[in-house]
Amino acid sequence: MKICISSGKGGVGKTTLSVNLAYVLAETGKKALVIDGDLGLANVDVMLRLSAKHTIQDILDMGADPREAVIHLEENLGVLPASSGTPEMVTLGPEERDILGGYLKALANAYDVTLMDTSAGIGPSVLWFNAFADEKLVIATSDPTSLTDAYALIKVLNNEYGLDRFRVVINLAKDSTEGLRAYQTLSGAARKFLDIDLSLLGMVPYDEEVMRSVRQQVPFVKAVPESKAARSVQELAHKILSFT
Ligand SMILES: Nc1ncnc2c1ncn2[C@@H]1O[C@H](COP(=O)(O)OP(=O)(O)O)[C@@H](O)[C@H]1O
Ligand SMILES: [Mg+2]
Repeated sequence: MKICISSGKGGVGKTTLSVNLAYVLAETGKKALVIDGDLGLANVDVMLRLSAKHTIQDILDMGADPREAVIHLEENLGVLPASSGTPEMVTLGPEERDILGGYLKALANAYDVTLMDTSAGIGPSVLWFNAFADEKLVIATSDPTSLTDAYALIKVLNNEYGLDRFRVVINLAKDSTEGLRAYQTLSGAARKFLDIDLSLLGMVPYDEEVMRSVRQQVPFVKAVPESKAARSVQELAHKILSFT
């Protein structure tokens, strides 16, 4: 199952959630892969203190075997790094996207769950990863600009690709009332203007433990499994497993 994680706005927790979800999924015995789809500004590798041998860039440039580009963090957990700040990756041509798609599809088939962490905005690579995915997760916060950008992403995916199934995760909420209100704002707009029913996958509260573990470059589900944020991510992972 290929799951795309996007948001419209940056800094809302896509990379943090992708990495931590993958850890939980791997812990439950599933084979999990994180693809760093932030082709313009790679950051999964930074978050996990990885040094990549091959990247998505090498796959395209030199036909490197995508399986060799995967870094195995644990037995069940792989990461395919993007390449940091390479400008031409931001503007992949249609043929390159097709080639990349073929490689990534074959690679994802070897895993139970593939999480694709995308960049901010609604650029071509974000739209492509969403169209490529089986499940679309949209991350938003209660910040009005985040909700507007999440709506804009959903709108363009609906208008241009006919996608109409989105699952929302509200991150960084102060409490569940604030989180629920944010979700209702977004789902209300989607229903009214796009005639789409969104579904709420879950909420992850603001948690200082997350900040601390990101600074130490350790996933918080591993560093502080009892924290509020870790428990919420464990719940999200179990819901994701019920999709399959
Ligand atoms: N639930 C949370 N509680 C506290 N801080 C968080 C939470 N989720 C993410 N963050 C912090 O927000 C910042 C941005 O997260 P990141 O995953 O890089 O966002 P994105 O990938 O969407 O740009 C990071 O510093 C991260 O530590
Ligand atoms: Mg990111």
